[in-house]
Parts: sequence; structure tokens; C-alpha cells
Amino acid sequence: MTKSIKKIWKWIDDRSGFTENIVPIIKHPVPPKAKWSYVFGSATLFCFILQVITGIALSLLYQPSSSEAYQSLLFITNKAKFGNVLRGIHYFGASAMIILVGIHMIRVYITASYKFPREMNWISGVILLLCTIFMGFTGQLLRWDSNGIWSSVVAAEQLGRTPFIGKYLARLLLGGDTIGGQSLSRFYSYHVFMVPAMIFIFIGFHLYLVIRNGISEPPKAGRLVDPKTYRAWYKNMLKEKGVPFWPNAAWRDVMFSAFIIIGIICLAFIFGPPVLSGKPDPAVLTTIPQPDWYMVPFFSLFALMPHKIESVAMLLGPILTIIILFSIPFISNSGERSPIKRPWAMYGVICVTVFVISLLVIGLKAPWSPHFNTKPLPLSAIKSKNPDSTIVQGVNLFYTKGCEYCHKINSYGGIDGPDLTTIGNRLNEQELKIRIVNGGKNMPAFGGILSKDEINKVVAFLSTQN
Ligand code: HEC
Repeated sequence: MTKSIKKIWKWIDDRSGFTENIVPIIKHPVPPKAKWSYVFGSATLFCFILQVITGIALSLLYQPSSSEAYQSLLFITNKAKFGNVLRGIHYFGASAMIILVGIHMIRVYITASYKFPREMNWISGVILLLCTIFMGFTGQLLRWDSNGIWSSVVAAEQLGRTPFIGKYLARLLLGGDTIGGQSLSRFYSYHVFMVPAMIFIFIGFHLYLVIRNGISEPPKAGRLVDPKTYRAWYKNMLKEKGVPFWPNAAWRDVMFSAFIIIGIICLAFIFGPPVLSGKPDPAVLTTIPQPDWYMVPFFSLFALMPHKIESVAMLLGPILTIIILFSIPFISNSGERSPIKRPWAMYGVICVTVFVISLLVIGLKAPWSPHFNTKPLPLSAIKSKNPDSTIVQGVNLFYTKGCEYCHKINSYGGIDGPDLTTIGNRLNEQELKIRIVNGGKNMPAFGGILSKDEINKVVAFLSTQN
């Protein structure tokens, strides 16, 4: 029995060249002191594999058509065995992947591992970063709930403001002038075919480069990278002090990745997937979406920016960022690698990190993130002491039609628009009506959305707020 198994293995090994080609890769020598800070890349890879597996499982039940998508997600969430946990793993897996990609990139930057001969490792990494972000963005729309849709609408509108080519970019993204069924199949195609294929290719390339150029040795102040002598020095250093990748270095990768994967699964069990925010309904104007957290910094950036520079920044911002990212290894590919000797580079990475995290924090509690979960305005919070039925209906409409997402009355509601607690002092009924029908800057025009009767009721209510 064991003899025939051995025979089969021999045949496989001979035809595939496993022992000959793969084992040396697994056992190849790596620098001895590459410790825990080197685990983030492999953890990202394991998260990606987790995403592929859970993504395929989700696609077995998900239906990418605008009439079925939301229903099929409800089915996955509420009826399918483990569907809820599956969605949770896919969501927390995506979050983990984005965080880990970010940390991995910061680590590579801090230790200047992008310097000679690893410039191309960095470039393929930047492409992988962009792919990962795009996966998060497209995945959010596949939920096909009001949040996902409005987040994509806002993104497309911002893209559409790009001078000259904006219209075409937005059309390319959405597959039409507005979001609709065609956008969903397009996003599905991006999310499950196009971008994953690119990620597979570039991960392959990235790993190939890691083998070809070797893992960077931890930097030491005063030990400079000289492209003329580096490869010979590196080879010699490995010969003298190198340790086999498996198991001496890889056990940390395995431990850390296992810790992350178990963490993701626990989070999925405890918190479950993000709640579906309701079927998209054009009659409920929730113009300010609550995007998933990893999109929030982008939204914050454009919400905080002065309107005048927005369209220029729309064009230049992303292009400049991408150019800078790609050019980092060309700006300096030799010399010091130690962070202590590169104070300006460290200053830069700290500023960018603090900036992005601040945008995230601001965005999570700021006015432009909608307060979809605002509680209905209770009658005890309004000014009128004996409201008649018109006013009561006005109060209800104020909540159900989404006014309260943006306007505050007595500490209830969002703060994107002006506080309306004492609006009756400032505007008379006619002026109120004009404002509501016509809208304004960042206030949607409700003329076509509310009936005359509904507008009158809301106005009747607001005019008592004095
Ligand atoms: C997307 C967020 C948003 C929603 C939803 C919204 N508003 Fe507004 N609203 C604003 C903003 C922003 C302004 C300020 C507009 C300006 O300065 O031109 C505003 C202004 C107003 C004003 C004038 C306030 C003043 O002090 O001049 C009134 C009245 C008003 N909204 C009522 C409503 C009512 C009623 C609804 C629901 C039918 C509603 N809004 C829904 C954002 C919103």
C-alpha cells in the first residue's frame, strides 16, 4: 500500500518537479532578523484567499440583477445556512485586507524596502493597493441597498465633475448616465472577474519578485544601499547568516495570519454583516449616504474641501497621489534605509497617516454622514403644545421624508442643514414653502417629491417652531 503511494508520489514529483523547484523556494534563505514587522504582507494574502472562498460561496446565491439582488441578499442573510456569518466574514475580511495592505505598505515605506533592487515590488504593490480599494468600492454597491447605491451615485457624481473627461469616466463606471440595472451588472463584473483577475496576476508577480530579489534585510543606520554592490553583498550576507524561510521565518507569518483569520471569523459571528439599509427608493431622498468605513476618508475629503477647488482637486488629487506613489522608489532608490536617518520621510508618512485617520474620524461623526438611524421626532420635542392633526402629520412627514437626516430639531436629527428648531421666527409660511420646493445648496428640491398636501403639512408644522 505505502509502496504504491510512494510510486504515485514519485510519478507526480517527477512530472511536476516539486522537490526540484518548489522545495528550494520554500527553504530559500532569508535574512535572519526579519521579525514580526514582516508578517503583514502574508496576512494580506491569506485575507485575500479568504475573500475568494467566501466570495465564491456568496456568488452561489447572489443574483446580480437589479430586481433580484436585494432579495437574494435578504435570503442569504436571513434564510441560508450560515449565510449571515458568510456575509460577515466577507465584510470583515475586506476591512482586514484594507487595513493590512495599509500597514504592509507603511512598513515597507518606513524600512525603505522599496529601494534597489525592489522598486518593482513597490510598483506592483501600489497596483494591488488600488485594486483592493476598488474591490471595496464595488462590493458595497453589490449590496444594492440604499446606502450602497447612494455611495456609488456620489462617487460617480464626483467622478463626473472631472474637467473634460468626467462625463465619460462616469459613464464607464456606471454603464450609463445614471445608476441602474446596467451599473449593477457592470459592478458585478468588475468585482468578481476583472479586478480579482488583476489581483491574482499582480500577487503572482509580487511574490515572484519577492523570491527573485529576496526579502529586504531589516535596515541599520549607516549601512547604505549601493546599487553597484548591493546584490553581491546581499548574496554574501544570506550565505553567512541566512536562515531557511520555512520554518525559521514562516512560522510567524502562519501564526499571525491564523490569528487574523480567527479574529475575522469571531467578528463575523459576534457582529454579523452590515445591516442592509433598505431597498433603494427614489422617493425617500437620502441624498447623503453612509459609505462603508474605508470609503469615509474620501467622502470627508470632498465634503471638507472648498467648493471652488473641488473640480480641480477631483482631477489632480487622485492623479497626483497615484503618480507620487508610483514614483517613490525612483525619487530615491539608494542610500540610507534606516528610518532614523530619514526624518523627512518619516515626517511625511506620519502626516499622511494622521490626515487619513482624521478624515475617517471626522467623517464617521460629521454632518455629512447621514443620520439614517435618527429617531422619529417625538411630539414632546416640538414647540406647539396642542398640535392639531395637520401638525402631527407634518411632524411624521418630517421624519419619513428624510428631512430629519439633515435637519435638527431640539437635538433630534442630523446637522447637514441648518437647525430648524426656531425656523418659524426666521421664515414665514410662503418662504418656507419656497425653500422646500426649490431646495438650495446641498438641500434637495422637494417640489417633485412631496405632494402639495404634504408640503403644506410640513410647512404648517415648521411655522409653529418659533
Ligand atoms: C440632504 C440634506 C437635506 C435634506 C434631506 C433636507 N434638507 Fe433642508 N436644507 C439642507 C441644507 C444644506 C439647507 C441650507 C440650504 C442653503 O443654505 O441654501 C437647507 C435649508 C432648509 C430650509 C431653510 C432653512 C433656513 O434657515 O433658511 C428649510 C425650511 C428646510 N431646509 C426644510 C427642509 C424640509 C422640510 C425637508 C424635508 C422635506 C428638508 N429640508 C430636507 C439640507 C437638507
